[in-house]
Amino acid sequence: MGMRIEQYSDLQQLSRSVASVIVQKAQERVSLRHIFSLMLSGGSTPRALYSMLAEPSFRDTIAWSQVHLFWGDERCVPPDHPDSNYAMAYSTLISKIPIPEENVHRIPAEIIPSEKAAADYEKSLRDFFAAHAGSDSAGYRNSYPVFDLILLGMGADGHTASIFPGSPALTEERRWVLAVDAPPGIMPSRRITVTLPVINSAREVFFIVSGRDKKNMIDNIMNHAAQGASSFPASHVRPKEFTFFLDRTVTD
Ligand code: 6PG
Repeated sequence: MGMRIEQYSDLQQLSRSVASVIVQKAQERVSLRHIFSLMLSGGSTPRALYSMLAEPSFRDTIAWSQVHLFWGDERCVPPDHPDSNYAMAYSTLISKIPIPEENVHRIPAEIIPSEKAAADYEKSLRDFFAAHAGSDSAGYRNSYPVFDLILLGMGADGHTASIFPGSPALTEERRWVLAVDAPPGIMPSRRITVTLPVINSAREVFFIVSGRDKKNMIDNIMNHAAQGASSFPASHVRPKEFTFFLDRTVTD
């Protein structure tokens, strides 16, 4: 299938559509393999989506006991810090759904040094996939984990997760998780991020992008899609199947 683009009039409509697709994917994977591994994105754009997934009309259609939540990246702050991606997901979604605590795989980004936080998260991912991949190796692609669905945002500079332009994370091929620095001016600067091979091994990736400041970058990525990756990290995301969910702030 490759890359698909879906356009919506606003973020609310976009979020409701993504929530419906997530319910469908969760039901498919749970009925097939009794597990749905979902990697959440950070930032502010997915806040509406997470709040919708916690609404009874969506919440009560997902077998949360068989869903496992992960994060694509985290800021190196405590889990109750206002800048924490986990804190945002907890307040909008996790605190409102019947998901077992052991199914929430938070990035321990408060650990110092942050290299240890990255190593600990990578170990938790490796342990999870070793325990759940099963003999059919559906859990791995080229020795990388196969998440059922990865949600990603994108910054105006083309970063995704916490893979920023010029970052060593762009060329990492061995490690699944890295501790990185955001460019000057982007705070919190110290971050933990999964690497591109993990993202590109996913069964499916959804980009959720809204905000006028991202229009030029979206145009750039769409126009160069056929010519392969540019220097912008989001253009290096090339899993088997990925969909850009865009609203009119980035398409008009
Ligand atoms: C983060 C994110 C990052 C985010 C983009 C878009 O931790 O900040 O994971 O990749 O998705 O920066 O952020 P907004 O949704 O706030 O525009």
